Amino acid sequence: MDFPSSFLNKINTAKKIAVLTGAGVSRESGLDTFRDVGGYWSKYNPYELASPQGFLKNPLLVWQWYQARRNRAKEAEPNPGHLALAQMEKLFPEFYLFTQNVDGLHFRAGSQNVYELHGNIFKSHCFSCGASYDIDFEIGESIDTIPNCPRCNGLIRPSVVWFGESLPFDILSLAYETSRSCDLFFTIGTSSEVYPAADLPYQAKSKGAYVVEINPNETSFTRYADLSIREKSGEILPKILDTIKEIKII
Ligand code: APR
Repeated sequence: MDFPSSFLNKINTAKKIAVLTGAGVSRESGLDTFRDVGGYWSKYNPYELASPQGFLKNPLLVWQWYQARRNRAKEAEPNPGHLALAQMEKLFPEFYLFTQNVDGLHFRAGSQNVYELHGNIFKSHCFSCGASYDIDFEIGESIDTIPNCPRCNGLIRPSVVWFGESLPFDILSLAYETSRSCDLFFTIGTSSEVYPAADLPYQAKSKGAYVVEINPNETSFTRYADLSIREKSGEILPKILDTIKEIKII
């Protein structure tokens, strides 16, 4: 693919890179997205499965869904898009990867500077007192298989951000600060529909960053991007990595 000179020049001069990824980046690892045809929200009610109210109403159903997602994420492998991002990180003085994904695949691909805006599906904490528990347990067919907090006997829940909940303040603050001070921003594999994460590319654009979108489909952000690439991330990111290496003569 021939990239525009504006992008090539920006690769050559950029010192601080920010990346926002969404479920589309893990699609080529075999994990479902949320809003594509056949995605999670076309099959399930998000408020039943991904909200505090839904969890309190039916904790077993919610845990069974997250257990199934945990198992699929464990079986999944990082794809060439994850791996290319991990390599790109080494080619710039500052490289920050903010992900909406909870599957842990960026870490498994070797990315170091990763910030999980929506938590991590393999972590758990007490719904009542907030104590963290990285225990590995299997949820069965009975509510008795949901562990209780040894400290306060509250229900243990997945450490992911649910609808109606706040994102981790420190990570969100860093994401805003980085988006507003970077030279080059990539928004990859996200429908750009869920805030505040979806605000980050607009923040970058408002402060003069060059913003690249990678998504096989158009999004509500597409018209604001300096470059919007209608490709799968697993296919185009390795080509972008090669281009960066050519420009930086690596
Ligand atoms: N490469 C790149 N993008 C892809 C690919 C691919 N191979 N396949 C699909 N996509 C794009 C789709 O076109 C879509 O725009 O990925 C996007 C996925 O959008 P969503 O399913 O809405 O996922 P995401 O944007 O990550 O959702 C944000 O919503 O439900 C919450 O907490 C959940 O973190 C999630 C948040």
